[in-house]
Amino acid sequence: MKERLNELAKLIEWGLERCLEYAEKDISRQDVLTESMWYSLSAGGKRIRPVLTLEFCAVCGGSTENALAAACAVEMVHTFSLIHDDLPCMDNDDMRRGKPSCHAAYGEAAALLAGDGLLNFAYEVICRGAGTAETKVALIEELSRAAGVSGMMGGQVIDTLWTGNITEEGLLEMYGLKTGAMLRAACKMGCIAANAGTDKLAAADEYAKNLGLAFQIIDDILDITGDEKLLGKPVGSDRKCGKVTYASLCGIQKSRETAKRFTKQALAALDEFGSFGDADFLRDLTEKMLVREY
Ligand code: IPE
Ligand code: IPE
Ligand code: MG
Ligand code: MG
Ligand code: MG
Repeated sequence: MKERLNELAKLIEWGLERCLEYAEKDISRQDVLTESMWYSLSAGGKRIRPVLTLEFCAVCGGSTENALAAACAVEMVHTFSLIHDDLPCMDNDDMRRGKPSCHAAYGEAAALLAGDGLLNFAYEVICRGAGTAETKVALIEELSRAAGVSGMMGGQVIDTLWTGNITEEGLLEMYGLKTGAMLRAACKMGCIAANAGTDKLAAADEYAKNLGLAFQIIDDILDITGDEKLLGKPVGSDRKCGKVTYASLCGIQKSRETAKRFTKQALAALDEFGSFGDADFLRDLTEKMLVREY
């Protein structure tokens, strides 16, 4: 599992570097923009979404190279969401991925533009990547929907601006948008790059829906119990912002049980990808996400 993860992560880092290389060729006076985009993108992070894109492509019988542009695009949109999430007008967090967050390093205006730049660049990367025009349109449709109003951005609006009652169901619905949507896109884009059929797409979607809920609940728990050094971002951010999270509403123990239940459901959805080994890496990765410390 570790070996495969390193191999995929290396491919992703290589892909991201190639992407930025051709962005740099296009510009000269906007250095601060590429610099701040690259600052956040190269800071690491778990790379879970692009790993999922590459691996879902592989378990659908595709070659990982075919999904590399899509994987890089997913990571760019995710990184954009983190840069904006950290802004003073959002969660106001000064650390991300073990470094000062983008606005802390470059100022708010540059961070806003770095986020915009990454979001826009993601679609350019897909257009320039491998695959037929039809596949690229399908990838762009998937990613733009996941990032937008009925996905991540819609979830962030509820997270940041909703002032009504907060229920357990309402929180899970919001997590499905702010976190689940991008994970669903990451997995489905891997399937799309491999030209997979509707059964595999539906199973990938079901897997990622459940993974997304477990993933955000664990993130909430880590915001309370985590070690800042390991996390690479501030602990206690949710409380500082006065946010009700699944962990603060339901308690740590119930949160762990709920995350476990969603993880189990995610694992069950992987059966569509072969019960005899093909999806073992994904199974291990999913279980690892449940007990992660960062
Ligand atoms: C953080 O995502 C935002 C959430 C959706 C909880 P990750 O925990 O995947 O952050 P990185 O990419 O590893 O930094
Ligand atoms: C953010 O959720 C989800 C995004 C869409 C970026 P959080 O605000 O809890 O993520 P962290 O804890 O800052 O990474
Ligand atoms: Mg947030
Ligand atoms: Mg945040
Ligand atoms: Mg959080």
